[in-house]
Amino acid sequence: MSKLKERFKKVVSPVLGLYYDDFAIKSAKGCYLNGVDGKKYLDFSSGIATCVTGHCHPTVVAAAQKQIKNLIHICIGVALYEPYIKLSEELRKVLPIPDALNFFCQSGSEAVEAALKLAKYATKKPGIIALQGAFHGRTLGALSVTTSKMKYRDGYEPLLPEVYIAPFDLNVIEGLMKTKQIAGVIIEPVLGEGGYIVVPYPFIQGLRKLCDQYGALLIFDEVQTGFGRTGKWFAAEHFGVIPDIMTMAKGIASGFTLGAVAAKRKVMDKWSPGAHGSTFGGNPVNCAAAIATLAVIKKEKLVQNSAKLGGYLKKKLIDLQKKYAAIKEVRGLGLMIGVDLGDPAIVKSIMVDCLKNGLVLISTGGDGKVIRFIPPLIVKKAQIDQALVIFEKALSKL
Ligand SMILES: Cc1ncc(COP(=O)(O)O)c(C=O)c1O
Repeated sequence: MSKLKERFKKVVSPVLGLYYDDFAIKSAKGCYLNGVDGKKYLDFSSGIATCVTGHCHPTVVAAAQKQIKNLIHICIGVALYEPYIKLSEELRKVLPIPDALNFFCQSGSEAVEAALKLAKYATKKPGIIALQGAFHGRTLGALSVTTSKMKYRDGYEPLLPEVYIAPFDLNVIEGLMKTKQIAGVIIEPVLGEGGYIVVPYPFIQGLRKLCDQYGALLIFDEVQTGFGRTGKWFAAEHFGVIPDIMTMAKGIASGFTLGAVAAKRKVMDKWSPGAHGSTFGGNPVNCAAAIATLAVIKKEKLVQNSAKLGGYLKKKLIDLQKKYAAIKEVRGLGLMIGVDLGDPAIVKSIMVDCLKNGLVLISTGGDGKVIRFIPPLIVKKAQIDQALVIFEKALSKL
C-alpha cells in the first residue's frame, strides 16, 4: 500500500469512492500524470473530463499566478472586478444561447442547483422533469434529478418534491406537462455518468417543441459535455436547438473550481437581485483561469482537435469491437467516447491492467460497465495510438 493510501485511510471519510484501490500521483503535466511510484501515466481521465487544456497548461498557470498577486477574493456582491465581467463577455462569444446572461458558482452541482432555482423562479411553477439515468450532481437539489445510480440516492430520501423522473418518451413527458405545473426539463445531451449515451436528435427536437408549447424551460446540463469535449463548443450545437438555461463546470477553467449558468436574457431578467448568490462563486483566480482556458481552446484549436481525433479514436475502437467480442458498443461524440463492455468485472480488470501499463482510464454507466475515453483535448494522435495499444493488450488477456 502506498504511504498516501495508508494516511488516507486514517484521516479521510470513507464516503469517497475510488476508481483505483491504490493510485497516487505527485504532479501532472500536459497529458501525463507523475505517479508517486516514479512512473509516468498517460491520462485518459482528464480528472473526470475537466482538464481540457491538459494539466498545468502554461497559459492557465500564468493567468492564475498573475491574478493571485492582484486579487484573490472580494465577492462580486461586495465589489465588481475585471475577471468576472471579462469571463462573462468571453463566454458569451462561444455560448449556443444568443445574448445570454451568466451567473458563476463553484461546481457542476451548484450550477444545477442554480438552474433549477432559476427555472422555478422565472416561471413561478414548482415542477421539474428529469430524465431516467441522468446525473446532475450530489447536492440535495441536483441529487433529486439524478438517477444514474440509485445508490447515490439511497439513504437521502425524501428529496425535492415535484420532481418527475421521466423515461425518454415524449408522450410521457407531454402527459406530465399537461397535468403538472412544470417549470423546466433538465437533460444531459449526452448522458455522462449514465454511460456516454448520446440522446437521439429527434427526442431533443421534440422536447424543445414541448417546452415551447407548455411554457416550460429547457435546461441543458453541459457540465461534462461543454468546452469542446464533444467536438463542438457545446453539445447543444449537435442537436440544432437553443436551450433556455445551460449549466457548465468541469472544462471551463482547466481544473480550477468554477461553475456557470447561462440563460436567455428574458429568463435571467426575471431573477431578482439577492434571489440567489454565492460568496466564492466567480472567484477572481478561477475566472482568470477560465479566461485563459477559453483563449487556449481557441488558439490551439482544441474544439477541432476533439472532433478530428475523437473521430479517429472512435473508428479505432470500433475496429477493436470487430476483433473482441467483449466490446458490446462504442458510442459518444468528439473526445467523449464510451466503450460498453457489458460487465463491471471486465471493466475493472481492464482498468487495472491498463494502469499497470501506464494508462489511466475510468469507468462510467449505472453499473460501471462502460470505460470512458476522455483525454485532455490537447491530446496528440501518437498518444491516442499509445493508449489503444495498451487497451488492446488488456482486451487480449480477457
Ligand atoms: C452532467 C453533470 N452534471 C453535474 C455534475 C456535477 O458536477 P460537480 O461534480 O462539479 O458537482 C456532473 C459531474 O460529473 C456531471 O457530469
